[in-house]
Amino acid sequence: PLQRLKDVLLSGTPLEECKDAARFDISKDNSTVSITVVGASGDLAKKKIFPALFALYYEDCLPEHFTIFGYARSKMTDAELRNMVCRTLTCRIDKRENCTEKMELFLKRCFYHSGQYDSLDNFAELDKKLKEHEDGRVSNRIFYLSIPPNIFIDAVKCASLSASSANGWTRVIVEKPFGRDSESSAALTKDLKQIDHYLGKELVENLSVLRFSNLIFEPLWSRQYIRSVQLIFSEDFGTEGRGGYFDHYGIIRDIMQNHLLQILTLFAMETPVSLDAEDIRNEKVKVLRSMRPLKLEDVVIGQYKSETRGGVVYPGYTDDKTVPQGSLTPTFAAAALFIDNARWEGVPFLMKAGKALHDKRTEIRVQFRHVPGNLYKRNFGPDLDDATNELVIRVQPDEAIYLTINNKVPGLGMKLDRSNLNLLYAARYSKEIPDAYERLLLDAIEGERRLFIRSDELDAAWALFTPLLKELEEKKIIPEYYPYGSRSPIGAHYLAARHNVKWG
Ligand code: NDP
Ligand code: BG6
Repeated sequence: PLQRLKDVLLSGTPLEECKDAARFDISKDNSTVSITVVGASGDLAKKKIFPALFALYYEDCLPEHFTIFGYARSKMTDAELRNMVCRTLTCRIDKRENCTEKMELFLKRCFYHSGQYDSLDNFAELDKKLKEHEDGRVSNRIFYLSIPPNIFIDAVKCASLSASSANGWTRVIVEKPFGRDSESSAALTKDLKQIDHYLGKELVENLSVLRFSNLIFEPLWSRQYIRSVQLIFSEDFGTEGRGGYFDHYGIIRDIMQNHLLQILTLFAMETPVSLDAEDIRNEKVKVLRSMRPLKLEDVVIGQYKSETRGGVVYPGYTDDKTVPQGSLTPTFAAAALFIDNARWEGVPFLMKAGKALHDKRTEIRVQFRHVPGNLYKRNFGPDLDDATNELVIRVQPDEAIYLTINNKVPGLGMKLDRSNLNLLYAARYSKEIPDAYERLLLDAIEGERRLFIRSDELDAAWALFTPLLKELEEKKIIPEYYPYGSRSPIGAHYLAARHNVKWG
């Protein structure tokens, strides 16, 4: 049964099928899983973790005996926590269905304990409450640290000393960013696994399927046929309300060093020996260790400023009261990265991540080389003189994979245009795509480590970015200011142009 569950998870099959496998495997024994959301009063807990737990419950993917505890300093009763949680629960799986009954059952399993993150006594009180609910069963415990990184260590110490399971396993899930640089990350590393929710996104899961189970892609997946790769993360809102956290980290640590770099390694790795977590991670580490050190001239940073459009004032980054005046923290960054190995030497991997831009999307765009001696060069319109193929993997929103090809426009003449072979998920699959957090939480319960970051991966990822981050901060490099809602700072276009690339 374990293998079955693993197969289902590894193949990225919709939750529907995980339902059967999980039910078969984890519901029948006499153990219990207690999930404590540390920082339960916060943004991530409300927005993602509780809804993901509900979706898993709805799909029967949680064990029969489970309890969820919220833990934070804010004072709240169980009823108040349930009220807060219930505001963000939706019938995501099937919007036509009435989930009220299931929601009520789920909320009855949710409790709250208020405490400090550095108090052994408060965690011991939590332990006592957990035991009451575990009712003498073998207790397995998960602590999901949904708190700012500077209090991770205190919380982990207290949870492990005062509230770890006496007779089952205890797992701690730590959010990214894991540390601020190589040194602080190393200090945090021992025994902790970092979560990167981008690895749980459907299209990121599908990357390996696309590459390794379709004959047509893998032979083209190298410097021989690929001219450049773009990894784009763009959000159309600012850091509103999260300035206190964000200002300490900036966009490079918030998005590039983890989410985009993880996608890059999955994109570029060699074929792993198997789909086992260790085999995949071995290949990812090799990519990271083959990467050329990042130089300041390969990077552009920006920060959004206030903009008035249609009478509406959109605040600049430093207008947020939680951001120190004069902050130089980048809210945008673009970088040109290179993997100096046999497969990828010379191919620019252009990354771009930004807040308060004109759209919200995450994409991988693969530009192929020109067709040598193209017989049809003259048959393209004037704007299509370098009509190369492009493969786009749109991670979100409107998940899709499409391939731009050149095509004859029907008719008696010989005119070519560009068309898309388009796999739009919403048109092809009727089922809702599970949220990344559902997959990651299920993996944490099952002890499946493939979507979590191994410490040598983390070291290599920090080794790539730490010197650059230090230089940016020591030299107090001033970011290029861009208006809220714009496409990106102009410097990002120059950077791409230097590598003969136009952002998609
Ligand atoms: P919040 O700022 O909302 O913090 C969560 C909770 O932690 C707060 O409700 C508060 O609870 C407590 N807290 C906040 N600041 C402090 C502090 N300085 N000292 C002690 N306790 C504090 O964070 P998020 O929920 O946005 O993020 C939590 C973690 O998840 C972070 O590591 C972040 O990087 C990561 N993350 C967040 C995402 C998001 O979309 N929000 C997405 C992906 C990752 P109380 O006062 O009740 O104790
Ligand atoms: C988080 C970052 O890791 O990812 C946030 O801390 C960002 O700044 C978020 O907004 C984006 O996640 P998603 O799943 O909404 O794309």
